[in-house]
Amino acid sequence: MPRHVAIIMDGNGRWAAARGLPRVEGHRRGVEALRRTVRAAGDLGISVLTIFSFSSENWSRPPSEIHDLMGLLRRFVRNDLADLHSRNVRVRIIGEREDLDRDICLLLQEAEDLTRNNDGLVLVIAFNYGARQEIARAARRVAIEVAQGRLSAEAVTPELLARHFHASDIPDPDVIIRTSGEQRLSNFLLWQAAYSELVFVPINWPDFDRTALEGALAEYRRRERRFGGLIAQTAS
Ligand code: IPE
Ligand code: IPE
Ligand code: MG
Repeated sequence: MPRHVAIIMDGNGRWAAARGLPRVEGHRRGVEALRRTVRAAGDLGISVLTIFSFSSENWSRPPSEIHDLMGLLRRFVRNDLADLHSRNVRVRIIGEREDLDRDICLLLQEAEDLTRNNDGLVLVIAFNYGARQEIARAARRVAIEVAQGRLSAEAVTPELLARHFHASDIPDPDVIIRTSGEQRLSNFLLWQAAYSELVFVPINWPDFDRTALEGALAEYRRRERRFGGLIAQTAS
């Protein structure tokens, strides 16, 4: 079983369009798929589940859709936080908080604070997240330390830079699953994905369930991870 599974939850709009429904209905059903997936991940003994719920680039969608997505996040935290807490889930948030509405910032903070001491599944919510933004932010922080003379330029290693990421203590994802058939990362965890297995599933996110998760994990287990080396049997 992988320790860290990351999911790009894609295809809500297409799910709705295929049924003649408004896009927001796809997003609503997407929240239900998220609930199912969190429960399944916990049952399967996965340690960390990271979900991509709003990208830095999603601000370019129409204002009405952004309004719907923000409303769904508010409702998800308000309705599901107590349940997640009772199931020993620890919530972590990655992404920029600065440009978010104040009440959303407070809800995200509340979710992290309430569940801080839980030691079950870690649910990492990537909200207003972009990997390039995360890398640039880390570079800025390192640059300040170098400029202040507290760090030498030679000391800047991949490990040092990664320590400035949003959730630097969390191991890289073993597998990144993307639904809806699209085969790209869309600015998700670019650095951390260096050696992640990528699994693309053809179904839209609102249809994702335990069976689909188990199918994607079975595909992961068929992969041979080498990390640039050789597999044990052939190394001699
Ligand atoms: C994923 O579904 C949810 C978000 C990106 C917030 P989409 O809204 O991207 O659905 P499609 O890709 O248009 O079908
Ligand atoms: C990626 O999906 C972002 C999330 C799932 C939150 P998009 O639907 O925004 O990605 P593109 O635009 O198809 O690459
Ligand atoms: Mg999409």
